[in-house]
Amino acid sequence: MVENKVLIIDFGGQYSQLIARRIREFNVYSMIKSYRISSQEIEKINPIAIIFSGGPNSVIGPDSPHIDSDIFNLGIPILGICYGMQLMASMLKGGIVKKAVQGEYGKANLHIKKDSGILYNIEDKTQVWMSHGDQVVKLPEGFENIANTEVTDVAVMANFKKKFYGVQFHPEVLHTLKGKDILHNFLFRECNAQAEWTMADYIYEEINKISNEVKEEKVICGLSGGVDSSVASAIVYKAIKEQLTCIFVDHGLLRKGEAKEVRRTFEEEFNIPLVYVNARDRFLNKLMGVIDPEKKRKIIGEEFIRIFEEEASKIKGARYLVQGTIYSDVIESGNEHAAMIKSHHNVGGLPEDMNLKLIEPLRMLFKDEVRKIGEVLGLPEEIVWRQPFPGPGLAIRIIGEIDSKKLTILQNADAIFREEIREAGLSREIWQSFAVLPDLRSVGVMGDDRTYSFPIILRAVKSDDAMTADWAQLPYDLLEEASNRIVNEVNEVNRVVYDITSKPPATIEWE
Ligand code: XMP
Repeated sequence: MVENKVLIIDFGGQYSQLIARRIREFNVYSMIKSYRISSQEIEKINPIAIIFSGGPNSVIGPDSPHIDSDIFNLGIPILGICYGMQLMASMLKGGIVKKAVQGEYGKANLHIKKDSGILYNIEDKTQVWMSHGDQVVKLPEGFENIANTEVTDVAVMANFKKKFYGVQFHPEVLHTLKGKDILHNFLFRECNAQAEWTMADYIYEEINKISNEVKEEKVICGLSGGVDSSVASAIVYKAIKEQLTCIFVDHGLLRKGEAKEVRRTFEEEFNIPLVYVNARDRFLNKLMGVIDPEKKRKIIGEEFIRIFEEEASKIKGARYLVQGTIYSDVIESGNEHAAMIKSHHNVGGLPEDMNLKLIEPLRMLFKDEVRKIGEVLGLPEEIVWRQPFPGPGLAIRIIGEIDSKKLTILQNADAIFREEIREAGLSREIWQSFAVLPDLRSVGVMGDDRTYSFPIILRAVKSDDAMTADWAQLPYDLLEEASNRIVNEVNEVNRVVYDITSKPPATIEWE
């Protein structure tokens, strides 16, 4: 059981997850809940500290998100960040927030008047990151103004007795140079947090929990080759060994070598019982003549579930299903829109009528923590650091009709591009890098002959969460090498282009 929990109340801020991750980096468990949470629910969670996130609204605007005012009577320390600070000021007696004469965006220097509480040992004039149009013009009762910037009079406010703090800047972003120290002060000096959240302990606890729950029953897991399902099944295997069977439905639309790697890892290295289903022909048949991307998704999703169910029903007496759900999938966000966009990409689904109980060992973890656990468990780098890959796989990277010849062309070109990126040491800093095969041909010349062949589109993007993405400014020599190799090594390709569009206006995938 985690004793020390920090509760982040999300007001729709773009950095809410970042705050949660910063706190976990101190080995303190943090969770995110929407501002709609009641104070009774908070009491049940029993956090040692509460943090109000920033948010896009103005507290003085109509319909701005507020919080159950009883939260201020729970005796729990609170840190309000940006919108969170303004909300505190406007909800507590005596405080006033107004639209600032001059907004403050970007870097600013913090002039510290009193270096105690969360500002303990923080040097004067340290750089902070601001992004606000409103400001606190009158402090609530019991508060002191302990820091300002050139533009903002109240940049940090403190009620030392109640341990309520407000910071107008964002301590969670790296541009606030002492942001980590400020958060550290809040947690460890003000809230007596204990650094008890480690991945090794987490694994140990999960293993115990799973073996206590599952006892002698059988468990199945759908393996996709991605980091989440791989790590989830590796944890479950540690707990119950051969009672677990993994089912790997290979739809044939994975990248070159991927299916082999998953089989090698699970069958040979980990000895996990694995049902491998080579369903390439079945999927290709179903996809024959299909052009519309949404239709492709639907066909693949449905066929996937069907095959999974077929295989699962052969494992007699299975009572549990492992899912690789991670924390970002379950956060109840303060921002309705974010939740909506996400659900769109859920592929597959649960075989509902099988009546299986869920085991979700990663439910409390962020992606980087899942990766850490994968490393602790000894999973190979290709799996632990695998870039996000869409459920429908290469089917949505072959524009238009799919056939096995096009699939091979794309797999080969894609493998070359990713190899070049890996060799340049850029894989981890790039969110996704891949090749796309469009449904057109162009003229080229090779030797003395005119060719009329496919182009390959290369795409590489940087992103934090796939909601927005920047095209990656890859070095020209890398692009040149990839292009040379692709036209020379992949039959039927005579041209390579690089996609230099960000998201928005484009999407990451082409279909
Ligand atoms: P877009 O193309 O919408 O993609 O910018 C955003 C992220 O979602 C992935 N993606 C999918 N993932 N099933 C998935 O599981 C899908 O149908 C799907 N379509 C896109 C995409 O790779 C990117 O990471």
